[in-house]
Amino acid sequence: MALLKRYTLYAVIAFSIFYLYHHFSFPSWLENDRMGAPKAGQNAPPTDMPSRSSFDWSKVPIRYPVESLNPLPTGKPRRLPRIQHSFEPEVVTTRNTRIARRDEIKGAFQRCWEAYKNNAWMRDEVTPISGRARDNFGGWAASLIDALDTLWIMGLKDEFKNAVAAVGNVDFGKTSLETVNVFETTIRHLGGLLSAYELSGEKTLLSKAIEVGEMLYVAFDTPNRMPITRWDFSKAQAGEPQVAHENVLEAEIGSLTMEFARLSQITGNTKWYDAVARIMSVFAEQQNQTMLPGMWPLVVNARDKNFKYGGAFTLAAMADSLYEYLAKTYALLGGLEPMYKEIYDNAMEAAAQHTLYRPMTPDNADILMAGMVNVNVTRSTTLDPQGQHLGCFAGGMYALGGRIFENQGHVEIGRKLTDGCVWAYRNSRFGMMPEVFHMRPCGPSMNDVCEWDEVEWMKDVAIRHPPEASASVLAKIPKGFTSIKDGRYILRPEAIESVFILYRITGDEKLRAAAWEMWLAIQKYTKTPLANAALLDVTVTNDAPTKMDSMESFWMAETLKYFYLIFSEPDLISLDDYVFNTEAHPFKIPK
Ligand SMILES: *[C@@H]1O[C@H](CO)[C@@H](O)[C@H](O)[C@H]1NC(C)=O
Ligand SMILES: *[C@@H]1O[C@H](CO)[C@@H](O)[C@H](O)[C@H]1NC(C)=O
Repeated sequence: MALLKRYTLYAVIAFSIFYLYHHFSFPSWLENDRMGAPKAGQNAPPTDMPSRSSFDWSKVPIRYPVESLNPLPTGKPRRLPRIQHSFEPEVVTTRNTRIARRDEIKGAFQRCWEAYKNNAWMRDEVTPISGRARDNFGGWAASLIDALDTLWIMGLKDEFKNAVAAVGNVDFGKTSLETVNVFETTIRHLGGLLSAYELSGEKTLLSKAIEVGEMLYVAFDTPNRMPITRWDFSKAQAGEPQVAHENVLEAEIGSLTMEFARLSQITGNTKWYDAVARIMSVFAEQQNQTMLPGMWPLVVNARDKNFKYGGAFTLAAMADSLYEYLAKTYALLGGLEPMYKEIYDNAMEAAAQHTLYRPMTPDNADILMAGMVNVNVTRSTTLDPQGQHLGCFAGGMYALGGRIFENQGHVEIGRKLTDGCVWAYRNSRFGMMPEVFHMRPCGPSMNDVCEWDEVEWMKDVAIRHPPEASASVLAKIPKGFTSIKDGRYILRPEAIESVFILYRITGDEKLRAAAWEMWLAIQKYTKTPLANAALLDVTVTNDAPTKMDSMESFWMAETLKYFYLIFSEPDLISLDDYVFNTEAHPFKIPK
């Protein structure tokens, strides 16, 4: 994890939150042994009779009612330009290989699903080494809800039915947490339920999505209607007054839009759309008043609705889905809300100009990385040439936005960013990209070019390490990388997500080949007797990286889904029909 040379208060706060968020290890009292979890299929009510949660969030009195609701944009949805490549019919040999690969991925999913069912049913996660249950997302069956649409897409209909019945028993009236993360609950639970409902039409899923929506809506009951992103659930249940926080990660407040808009579209109740429209208009109004006009700082002040202060800007961790949702929300609203196009254009231009860079590599690869930029009081910008696994979504974002808004330049940027992540996978010792690293930029902008220069590279490696750094530390760094601050690979999806989107957009078979290479590496090193495990350090010089006893719900919800889809027929969840939320839950584009 990179430390900034010039700290600002906000950057320090942001990075502390980042650390807690990503480096937190769960205390053992959160875990049960394998005897504790009920077995799949027990106590399941019939599918058409969801049981209600033990607390009715819709009955909590509202202290700060809104005076007039922002309506959903109305009118006939605009026809979006074609997004997917026009694929030719497949030849038989290609088809056979593709299907064998797809089925291998499906088999890997089924193993993980069985492990979850047998060891952690109704709990948030199964631990892939010890086979225990862990609740770190509220105890609301996060893995189950997150994986519902993957079950459906993979054609596992019996498992799906069984899972839907279990969803009826999830109780959103109580939680194992003191503080609920509104963003995580929105993207995983609300997104997962809505998408599985859209695919299957199962009413239980919609009624549970509404329960979650009613719960989360209470987090917006503050004087200025800005939500509390780390939310005290029991105070809210007790009806205590609430106020939004002063330091809020921009991604956590800025990427609730797709799920809330979709809930309003499906139910016809506009209160959820209204709630997020209020946030997005603050982002829109202040977009040009920040230290880097076009982008917003990592941390914003929700209490004072001040989204301008702060000098650290990136597309990657803590910012990511705020930017990702701009073009996607435009599509989801039927192209009827021009504001999303305006702020998308503005943000993507600023991000391309300031945060993207071309790294120097031994093969002079024509790739881009999404870095971070710091702006000081004199408005001078300094590039921090990071690469982050979380930033790998950006390739898919530029390419998709480029298609939606017919900007071929953005499709090309998206390709180079995606190729950057593929490069980082390919050039890492075990074929998986580490969580956070640095490279040497050719120059401060993405248009700078340079030739590989081993002396320059070694100088940069030296700058980024203390003089006493041992030869063994330096030996772990493959040529091209200049430091690796966080060597974990935790089963994250962002790289395969962009490879999948770029494949669907360009039809380039090289991307499918790259996906298969990535898959083989991941499966080889993360597979456990039960499921798949996060890796502690993919830069070690041993025979294999050490496994950690963790498999987050995004593995079954996102990573395996994108791997499965890239080896499926291109019309399975076509990008012309669906937009994915940031947890890989597809929502139908209105037509
Ligand atoms: C922000 O700046 C961009 C580029 O200069 C401009 O196109 C846009 O209209 C501005 N937006 C607002 C809300 O002033
Ligand atoms: C701001 O950054 C520029 C470029 O790095 C530097 O020359 C300048 O001294 C900095 N100003 C302050 C006040 O830190």
